[in-house]
Amino acid sequence: MAIVTEPDQTPDPAASAGRGVAPAARRDTRLDTWAGRYASRTHGMTASAVRSLFEVANRPEVVSLAGGMPNIADLPLDVIADNLASMVFKEGPRAMQYGSGQGEPVLREQITEVMRLEGIHAHRDDVTLTVGSQQGLDLVTRLFCDPGDVILAEAPSYVGALGTFRSYQTDVVHVGMDDDGLSPEALREALVALRSAGRTVKFLYTIPNFQNPAGVTQPLERRAELLRVAREFGLLVVEDNPYGLLTFSGEPIPAMRSLDADNVIYLGSFSKTFSPGVRVGWVLAPHAVREKLVLAQESATLCPPVFSQYVVSTYLATCDWRGQIASFRDMYRTRRDAMLAGLAEHMPAGTTWTHPEGGFFVWVTLPEGLDSQAMLPRAITSRVAYVPGPAFFADGFGARNMRVSYCYPPPERIREGTRRLGEVLQHELSLHETFGLDPRHDDPPRGGITRGPGANQS
Ligand SMILES: Cc1ncc(COP(=O)(O)O)c(C=O)c1O
Repeated sequence: MAIVTEPDQTPDPAASAGRGVAPAARRDTRLDTWAGRYASRTHGMTASAVRSLFEVANRPEVVSLAGGMPNIADLPLDVIADNLASMVFKEGPRAMQYGSGQGEPVLREQITEVMRLEGIHAHRDDVTLTVGSQQGLDLVTRLFCDPGDVILAEAPSYVGALGTFRSYQTDVVHVGMDDDGLSPEALREALVALRSAGRTVKFLYTIPNFQNPAGVTQPLERRAELLRVAREFGLLVVEDNPYGLLTFSGEPIPAMRSLDADNVIYLGSFSKTFSPGVRVGWVLAPHAVREKLVLAQESATLCPPVFSQYVVSTYLATCDWRGQIASFRDMYRTRRDAMLAGLAEHMPAGTTWTHPEGGFFVWVTLPEGLDSQAMLPRAITSRVAYVPGPAFFADGFGARNMRVSYCYPPPERIREGTRRLGEVLQHELSLHETFGLDPRHDDPPRGGITRGPGANQS
C-alpha cells in the first residue's frame, strides 16, 4: 500500500550540528495501515475536538484561561541547581541506577511528613511512588477495573481521570455536587440505583480540595458523611489530592484518608507544590492493595524514575519547601482575586461562578441558551481561551459551563482575559436576543454548583 508522505521542511538541529547525516524526512501520513488491529480499549481514545483550537490559544496574543499549568517561576532555581549538583556528586551512582519498584525509602519517609500537614499518619511501607499522580490513577484503575465496571465521579470531573477510566473501558457515572463538593445524598441515590440495576461499582473517584474543574471543597463534616455512605455500601474511595496544600485561607482540611485508613486510597503529587516536570507522585494504599500496586508498577515501569525521586528528595531535604508552599499560596491567591474581580466586573447578568478557596480553577455557568463549545472559536478570535464544560463529563453534559483557570497568567492578563470573555458573552447574548434561543443549546446546568457566594445573580 502506498504511503503518502510530506517532507518535513524544518531543519534538523542534530544534522546541522555537524554529524553530516541528511535529516530523515518526516512521514506525515494519516493513512493507518494498522487501523483494524488496535485493541478495543483504544476506541475511546479520541483527541479532543477542541485540541486544534488550543494550538492557536497558545499564541502570545491570546489570554489563555484554559491551561492548568502551575506557575513555577518563583522556585529558587539557583539554590536548587547547587543542591542538585552536590547530590549528583555524592549520590550519582545510586540516583542514576535502577531502583526499587515501590520507590526510594528516603523519599517515601519524607512523603509521610508532607502528608502529616493534612492529618495523615502513615508508614512509609504503604507509600508507592508513581510517575505523577496520573500514573497512580492508571495503576489503581488497572488493579480494580474490568471492562463494563462502573466508576463514580463528581459531575464534573478531572479530564485526565476520565481519559484513564475510558481507556480501561469502564463506565463513569457522575454524581452531583453543590458548593460543598460531592453530595452524600446524590452518592447514596446513585449507589442504590446502580445496585438495583445489577451494576458493579468499583470505586468512587473524588477530588475533595479545590476540585478540578469546579474549584469547590468538601468541608470536614462532608468528608465524614461521604465516608459513612461509602462504608455502608462497601465502596472503595480513591481520593485525588494534588491541590490540598494550596489553600488560600487557614490550614488544610484533614484528608479523607486521615478519617479512614482502610477504605481510602490516596493519590498525592509534587506537580503543584514543586515541579510537574519531575513527574513524581505517590499512592498511599492499604497494605494488601499496596503489594499489588508495586507489582503493577514493576510491570509498567520496572521502577519509577530514580533520578526524579532524588531530585524531589534533595529539594525537600535542602530547601524551605514549607515556605515555598506559603509563597505559592500568596501568588495564587492574588491571581484568584484578579479572576473573581474580573468576572464580577465583566460577566453579563445570568452568569454565575464558583469561588475557590485554593487551587487553580473557577467553574462558570453561562446564561441560558449559551453553548461554551460552540462559542469557543469566537472567543479565540477575540483572543481569550477557556475549556468548554463537556470536556469534564463522560456523558456529554456541560454545554452551559466552562472552566477558567487563574494559575498561569499574571493578574493583569487575567483581568484582561475576563474583559474579553465578557465581550464574547455579550455578543452571543445579543445574537440570541435578535434570533431567539436555539433549543439545541438549552442544556440545563448540572450538579447544582452554580452559585458561589456573591456570584453575579443579577
Ligand atoms: C485532579 C488532578 N489529578 C491528577 C493530576 C495529574 O497530576 P500529575 O502531574 O501529578 O500527574 C492533575 C493534573 O492537573 C489533576 O488536576
